[in-house]
This record gives sequence, C-alpha cells and structure tokens, in this order.
Amino acid sequence: MQTPSEASRVLCAKLRSKIMSAEEAAGLIPSGVNVGMSGFTGAGYPKAVPSALAKRIMDANLYGKKFKIGVWTGASTAPDLDGALAMVDGVEMRLPYQSDPTCRKRINAGEMEYIDIHLSHVAQFVWSGFLGQLDIAVVEVSGILEDGRLIPSSSIGNNKTWLDQADKIILEVNSWQNPALEGMHDIYYGTQLPPNRKPIPLTLTDDRIGEAYLRCDPNKVIAVVETHSPDRNSAFSAPDENSRKIAGHILEFFEHEVKKGRLPADLLPLQSGVGNIANAVMAGLNQGPFENLTAYTEVLQDGMLEMIKSGKLTCASATAFSLSSGALAELNADLGRYKNNIILRPQEISNHPEIIRRLGVIAMNGMIEADIYGNVNSTHVMGTKIMNGIGGSGDFARNAYLSIFMTPSQAKGGEISCIVPMASHVDHTEHDVQILVTEQGLADLRGLSPKQRAKAIIEHCAHPHFKPALSDYYKRALDHSPGKQTPHLLEEALSWHVRYLRQGSM
Ligand code: COA
Repeated sequence: MQTPSEASRVLCAKLRSKIMSAEEAAGLIPSGVNVGMSGFTGAGYPKAVPSALAKRIMDANLYGKKFKIGVWTGASTAPDLDGALAMVDGVEMRLPYQSDPTCRKRINAGEMEYIDIHLSHVAQFVWSGFLGQLDIAVVEVSGILEDGRLIPSSSIGNNKTWLDQADKIILEVNSWQNPALEGMHDIYYGTQLPPNRKPIPLTLTDDRIGEAYLRCDPNKVIAVVETHSPDRNSAFSAPDENSRKIAGHILEFFEHEVKKGRLPADLLPLQSGVGNIANAVMAGLNQGPFENLTAYTEVLQDGMLEMIKSGKLTCASATAFSLSSGALAELNADLGRYKNNIILRPQEISNHPEIIRRLGVIAMNGMIEADIYGNVNSTHVMGTKIMNGIGGSGDFARNAYLSIFMTPSQAKGGEISCIVPMASHVDHTEHDVQILVTEQGLADLRGLSPKQRAKAIIEHCAHPHFKPALSDYYKRALDHSPGKQTPHLLEEALSWHVRYLRQGSM
C-alpha cells in the first residue's frame, strides 16, 4: 500500500486505503480473466496497470508459463495498453475495436482472437452475458469524490458498464487530466434490457439526461493507482488535395439539399468518423456557409474543436476526445470555455440507434473500398486482413438520416482501385449506403436500383484509370449474369483483389 500524494485526487477515505503501485495492482490480475479497460481513441485509457501487467506476462513467459487475458475496451487505446499487451502475446481475445499496429499484426497472423462488433452493442452484450463474465475493470478516472463517485476522464466509452458488471475494479486516478473535465460528462443510468426498455429521453444533441459522475461500488474496488500521464495524441495531417476535394463535394451536396428543402439551413446533427478525411471535411465545413451546426458523434477530432472555436458548431456530443497534441493543449488551456459546448456520454448512448434515428444524424465515415453496387468494406484489406474494425460506423450508417461514405478513389499510389466490382468484405450493405464520395465526385444513390447505382458509382466515384475496366466489367455482367437484379460475373468478381495480391497492382 502507498500513502496518497499531497495533491491526491482520491478524496474517498475508503478508497484512499486501497492506493498502491501499478505493479501491485497488476499482481491482482490473474491469467485467464476478462478485463474491461477504459479508453477510446487514445483518450482516457489506463496508463500504468496495463504496462505493469505486460511486464508481469513477459516474466511469466520467461519461465515458460502461458499468461493471457481477454481485453475489452471502449475502442482503440494506445501503445502502452494494446501495444504493450500484444507485444508480449498476452491477449487471448480482443474486442470491440483496435488500431494498434502490433495488435493488428497478431490478429492477422492468427495469434490473437478479435471480435469486431458494433460499438453500441458492447454494453448490452455484456449485460446479457453474451461475452462471458467480466472479471475485472481497469478504469482511468480524473478524480474520486468523498462519497466514492468517480469523476470521469477524457473518454467514457464502456466505463459505466465495466464498473457495473465487473466482479472487481482497479481505478487509475490520473492527475494529468484537466480538473475542469468535472461536469462535462452525462452518464445515463436508465438503460434496461428487453422487455423492460423505455425510450431514452434525449431529443436534442445538447440534452443532459444523466449524471456528471460514474457510480462505483467501493466494496468491489481492489486497487487504486495514482498516475500523472498524458493521453495518446492523434496525429492529423493537414488536409491534402484529395481530402479537400472530398470535403468540397460534400459541402456542395449539402447546399443542394438545403435548396431542395431536404435539409434545414443549419443542417442536422453531424457525425464524423475517424481519420484524416473526416477531419478534413470538418475543416471544409468550418470554411463553409453553414452556421449553428451541432454534432452527435463518437469522437471529437481537431476539426470539430476548430468549429466550436469559430462559433460554427454550437454543441458537440461525443464519447471521447481524439485530438492532436496542439489541439489538446489548446483545449486544456481553456477547457472551462468549451464546457458549454461539449458533452461526453457513454458509447451506448453516443452510438444509440434510437437516438441517431430520432435526431436525423448526417453520418460521414471513411471506408477501404466500395463495390459498384455500393456495398462498403470499412475493415478488411483484400478481404482477409483486418485494418481497425467497424467501430461505430455501422451504428451510424444504418440509422442516419443521410449515410455518407468517403475515400480517395485509389490507394497505394494508384495500384488499388477503391471502387471494385465486388467488395472483398462487406461491413455496410448497399441498403445502408446512400451517398458515396471520392475526390472524383459524389454519387447520390438514394432512390436508385442496383443497376442505376452501378452506373452512378462508376461515373462519379471511380478513378479515370480504373473507370474503363469497371464499365467493361459491368457491361459484360449485364450481358452474362444469370440474374439481372445485381449483375455479376462470379468467376471474375474478386479477380481485381487476386491480381493485386499476386502482382502488386489491380
Ligand atoms: N485497399 C487496401 N488498402 C487501402 C485501401 C484499399 N482499398 N484504402 C485505403 N487503404 C489503406 C491506405 O493505403 C492506408 O494505409 P497505410 O496506413 O499503410 O498508409 C490505410 O488504409 C488508411 O487509409 P487512409 O486513406 O489514410 O484513410 P483513413 O485514415 O481515413 O482510414 C479507414 C480509413 C477505413 C481505415 C478508417 O476510416 C476506419 O478504420 N474506419 C472504420 C471505423 C469507422 O468508420 N469508425 C468511425 C465510426 S464513428
């Protein structure tokens, strides 16, 4: 046991008595257990216990002992969690989303099991027992109140569920996190399992329907670890030519929809996915004509912060920050100011289909490839290798008012066409994909049959280098396909991927 530091944020006497080192806390995690860790896109993940556990696993391995755990999180974390545990081959099963290179390598080598599920499903899967028992929660918080309630950190993710469902709890109290985070969160405790579900009373992006603190049974807490470590930053590159063009097409489309009376002048709540293109679209919107925008989204990236600063965005509801170091420093320097504009919620609420449908969210997500009929692959390179995971893209795409997917038309220096005859893996079926955008243009697929969609996608989204081959494939499919609803040449449909795997070019 350790004595709390003078500036300790652990105000609850009962929990102060449980303060110990990360190594001691990691010693309480045995092999074979399922551990629910906090963390979402590099924000609010435990900084000390996972690394200490990785060291323990490495020591066990040196003595020839197998030591593996199940790791459940909100979403992606950081090298000192996913990376450290994957490095020592300490993860038996990982879910629900990751983006760590070492983790990815292990998964694709068949050395780590990975369940890629919709982020909104995780909480209910755990309550329902679909994933087995959650043994231990390891959750970063930014403080503990006298009465034992927890001040959440820079992400909420699945923390409410982990604290509720785990048999035992380890808390990391990170004094690096800005104390002004207190009050920014909205934790809703009204979710139920069927048949007892009630409507979730959220009708506006800035509605607060819950509590500012996480509840925690102090009797389940087995360790409290004090840390002082920064979140992992997300590095964003400045919008390149392609991203700017994609953003331009989307803005033009919004203006057209407003003119047609199909979107209000202040649009509808925006959801913006992970990555550079999503960030660039926000930068485009920041320069665009729309005012008083709102966001109901999963992660708050730099672009949205800029929009709050410029006054274009009045409210952003998310479950986590995902900021570059510059943006994070700016946010932390003036967090009080942003408190009126930002609400962090559990991911079961930020990604809830009922709310996304009710609010009429405009969903904008990145993709790896789409086929000529608009089936979208967000997760698998060449059909078999995981990139990251579906994340919340499915939660939003299926339930959005407008579901937009975007990508540059080519990848790997032009060797790969991101528009292909048949998607090598499907995360979002043609039914959930309304708008496809590349730097070449935008295909509005609403109200089109599969054959009409194919024409629009090839015409507006394919790169000129691949357009003739796609048109040729489609024409021959139309002539020779046994079924004419969604024409395909089955023996040829995935030949582009096979060619890339064999020859390095599609
Ligand atoms: N075939 C093979 N590789 C491809 C590819 C294709 N069709 N399209 C892109 N790639 C590669 C890129 O070359 C790049 O590789 P690198 O890391 O080796 O440079 C990588 O995929 C990322 O592509 P990039 O163009 O930089 O896109 P991004 O950062 O916008 O990410 C996704 C795109 C699809 C990977 C990302 O959006 C994602 O993980 N989406 C799923 C989760 C999601 O949508 N979450 C948001 C929900 S709220």
